[in-house]
Amino acid sequence: MTSKERPFSVRLRVVRSIGEELREAWRLGWRFVLVLGGGSYGHVVASEYMREGLMDTGEALASITRVMAELSSVVSEVLAEYGLAPVVYPPYAFCRPDGLRPNCDWELVSRSLWYDATPLIPGDAYPGYSGVRIVSGDELAIEASCRLGADVLVYATNVPGVLDERGETIPYLSRPGLHDLLEHGMLRGGSGVDVTGGMYRKLKVISELGCPGLRVCIVEGSRPGSVYAALRGRVSRGMTVIEL
Ligand SMILES: Nc1ncnc2c1ncn2[C@@H]1O[C@H](COP(=O)(O)OP(=O)(O)OP(=O)(O)O)[C@@H](O)[C@H]1O
Ligand SMILES: [Mg+2]
Repeated sequence: MTSKERPFSVRLRVVRSIGEELREAWRLGWRFVLVLGGGSYGHVVASEYMREGLMDTGEALASITRVMAELSSVVSEVLAEYGLAPVVYPPYAFCRPDGLRPNCDWELVSRSLWYDATPLIPGDAYPGYSGVRIVSGDELAIEASCRLGADVLVYATNVPGVLDERGETIPYLSRPGLHDLLEHGMLRGGSGVDVTGGMYRKLKVISELGCPGLRVCIVEGSRPGSVYAALRGRVSRGMTVIEL
């Protein structure tokens, strides 16, 4: 939803297109929880503080949470135009991260769904016992899916799924296949400014926090229709499906 090459840039065309797809899915009875990655907001600010060695400061905590609140607010406003009622839950207020686990109060979040609102959770910074920590959207999304009993988790990213060494999309991964890829595969961090480890981190948390029966799709969010297709279980080119 943002361009990681340009700080603080929202790709409005992409947010609108996903808004349209979510509106259609909602009309068909789907209910969802949305998670926002750091994109060109959180990553940019966090990497500056990390570079300066100033991550464990109130200023870093305040700045990262502030820009993620800003991104959440922009995205919420656009999604509201498409008939959704997004409610933002900042992780520092309802999560207690433990290792890779965000450890959030998902029951609290799910109550928004009773009222036909759509929870929207940004990746964020968190004041831990031993420093200011980053809670990435990758692990928030997988924990939410497992704790709330989701049928499908869609990661909308900036590449057409998980790519092999020739740059081609890997269409399907089983759990053993995922393990194998994490051990031996060609996985790197993200392009542009990135503080949470790109595709490697995404697959690692899917492997470690994922639960049996969950279907995880990784799609290119800027490709119109990709999120909707993944929700409906339609397999298309440029998408990786992981069956846990
Ligand atoms: N084998 C691979 N297949 C696909 N992408 C890969 C691979 N190895 C490394 N990557 C990198 O991972 C990036 C995707 O992860 P990235 O963290 O940048 O996006 P995101 O998690 O969707 O966004 P955000 O971190 O803002 O939430 C790709 O743009 C690519 O540069
Ligand atoms: Mg990422």
